[in-house]
Amino acid sequence: MERLQKVIANAGITSRRKAEDLISKGIVEVNGKIIRELGYKVSPSDTIKVNGKKIKTERKVYFLLNKPRGVVSTVEDDKERKTVIDLISCKERIYPVGRLDYDTTGVLLLTNDGVFANNLMHPSKKIDKVYVAKINGKMKTEDFLKLENGIIIDNQKTAPAKVRLKKYDKDKDISYIKITIHEGKNHQVKKMFEVLGYRVLKLKREREFIFGLNDLASGEYRPLTQEEIKMVLDLNKK
Ligand code: URA
Repeated sequence: MERLQKVIANAGITSRRKAEDLISKGIVEVNGKIIRELGYKVSPSDTIKVNGKKIKTERKVYFLLNKPRGVVSTVEDDKERKTVIDLISCKERIYPVGRLDYDTTGVLLLTNDGVFANNLMHPSKKIDKVYVAKINGKMKTEDFLKLENGIIIDNQKTAPAKVRLKKYDKDKDISYIKITIHEGKNHQVKKMFEVLGYRVLKLKREREFIFGLNDLASGEYRPLTQEEIKMVLDLNKK
């Protein structure tokens, strides 16, 4: 279910603000009934008419991208850098569900469905995000415990994380740490390691909720299956 003004705006007729005016003026109908309530919720099966003319609602689309390095996770970039939207061929107006840094790789979902995006991003849903961080040095046992219990970044304590050593490369003195968090603070994983004195040399998101990379190569994407979409939308029922 989505707000009426948003659906009208997404149909490309006008801006959201102007759509609100149209609703207030009483020229918007939903299933044959005039609706003046701002924020009235409509579903994809509802028929919406503006000025007596049926609007075309955008079909909902869902993608899983293996984000490469050197791409921003925004719809547009003021520095004109390549965005994740440029990597996906689709005419609907999609946006990324959350963000990965310019140099972070891995699982990134994109959609034009606000309910889907919100279900994955809302803190109350506690969605697992699994990262592998390549850091300099050998991580101390006490630092595993600190990350697991939560540490202070940006004056706030992080929620408990699951942390384990994947590999330590003795020759290069580099560790690969698997860390699972469910929050999404800005640069969270990098900051968590930096507070403890480690530098994150590479960061990859291996999984978000049920979505892993499997055989998706860097820069490749695939549409989600109906079953996968339902699992995310059903998070609302929990
Ligand atoms: N944490 C980070 O520091 N960067 C990301 O891109 C994602 C999580």
